[in-house]
Amino acid sequence: MSSDQPHIPAPTVTVTDNRTGSSVDLPIVSSSHGASGIDVRPLQKSLDLLTFDPGFMSTASCRSAITYIDGGAGLLWYRGYPIEQLAEKSSFLEVSYLLLSGELPSAPHLDRFRDLITQHTMVHEGVLKFYHGFRHDAHPMAILLGVVGALSAFYPEAMEVSDPACRMTSAYRLIGKMPTLAAGAFKYLRGEPFIYPDDSLGYIENFLRMMFALPAAPYRINPVMVRAMESIFILHADHEQNASTSTVRLAGSSRVNPFATISAGISSLWGPSHGGANEAVLHMLQQIGDVKNIPQFIARAKDRNDPFRLMGFGHRVYKQYDPRARIIRKHCMELLDELDVRGQPLFKTALELERIALEDDYFISRQLYPNVDFYSGIILKALGIDTSMFTVIFVLARTAGWIAQWMEMIAEPDQRIGRPRQIYVGQTQRDYVPLAAR
Ligand code: SDX
Repeated sequence: MSSDQPHIPAPTVTVTDNRTGSSVDLPIVSSSHGASGIDVRPLQKSLDLLTFDPGFMSTASCRSAITYIDGGAGLLWYRGYPIEQLAEKSSFLEVSYLLLSGELPSAPHLDRFRDLITQHTMVHEGVLKFYHGFRHDAHPMAILLGVVGALSAFYPEAMEVSDPACRMTSAYRLIGKMPTLAAGAFKYLRGEPFIYPDDSLGYIENFLRMMFALPAAPYRINPVMVRAMESIFILHADHEQNASTSTVRLAGSSRVNPFATISAGISSLWGPSHGGANEAVLHMLQQIGDVKNIPQFIARAKDRNDPFRLMGFGHRVYKQYDPRARIIRKHCMELLDELDVRGQPLFKTALELERIALEDDYFISRQLYPNVDFYSGIILKALGIDTSMFTVIFVLARTAGWIAQWMEMIAEPDQRIGRPRQIYVGQTQRDYVPLAAR
């Protein structure tokens, strides 16, 4: 810096402990867009203090260049591209390439990426044998998280997470095999024979065929389903540091192989507060049963003493409409009209619930809007997909984002194992009391 330029101090925040009067200047970590952060790493050494943030409401766990969310403005960008444009103009494989590489592919690069994924759609026959160890009524998410983790046993070289080429091969394997494994869970559930991939088909078409084809009859690809599924996959591909992505980052930070890492992400996504909400929406709508019962369920949702919550409503980050919900709602309405099922009790209940909730002060005052899971549950139901497969569909889409986030974490120059601390509130040291004296 030349001497005539004014010295601009590095941005910091000063923290003072008023019990001791000690202070520390904490550097500010600048963002390219949205909130910057306070680097609290010097805090413990300087003031012997930890940060405390249950649920990580105000904690940035990492720097990331993959996805940007603005909860107040309702913005969602994948590598800077607004979700509205990607949902309208892109494809799931192109979005997967974008998330992984950071740039939209040229035509030759997209073709090459598609070929690399397609090479990995088959699974070892031993993997298919695992399915038969599950009860006939096992939840497909229980099966999926099991068989994905079990892939660790088939690709021991995947433990070489320091090798970029090895990471990329694992990425192709996971994106390529996930539809086959997911459809396998569905076929096992239905007691139907597994359908092997047909690599002459597109990614979505191949998945739908593995789900619904039967050996006894030719399978006709339904373009309505393909279009709806492509949009659902794009909208669910990544979403910043949500619970399952944070699980992937933390699990992967021990440098375990990516199959075990993604299996951990599947486990977290399964919860009804997270990706399991799309399935929970349908159970809730079936529980409500009829439009006339909505008021009592709205009352229960408001009652602090009742654990019941309106599934598909609310979001930790979005304090206005989830931009994905806005997009998927449009597709949802078009599909209900195309299939002429708007009048069916389940869908009538869903639309009336949405209307009432959006007018009710309890939801308005808490900025609780329908989220992506509310409408994806309705769309998947209208498409005739079994409710227990809804979160599996979410896994299929989010696998691309999880891998991109895992790769970004592992490739960090100073990557280290994640190991949060705690505020201990238990007993202070005390001596053992012999049994006879208790
Ligand atoms: C996903 O993080 C992501 O990005 C996730 C996701 C992704 O793409 O990865 O977007 C996908 O998981 C979407 C969310 C799907 N979950 C649901 O639809 C389940 C229902 N929603 C809630 O459980 C809840 O809204 C959460 C879990 C989504 C968010 O919970 P928060 O941020 O911890 O909110 P909170 O519990 O602090 O709620 C604030 C207030 C509370 O009331 P008060 O204590 O202020 O009186 O809002 C109330 C809550 O009781 N509230 C609800 C409610 N959600 C919040 N009341 C009734 N029904 C609800 N759904």
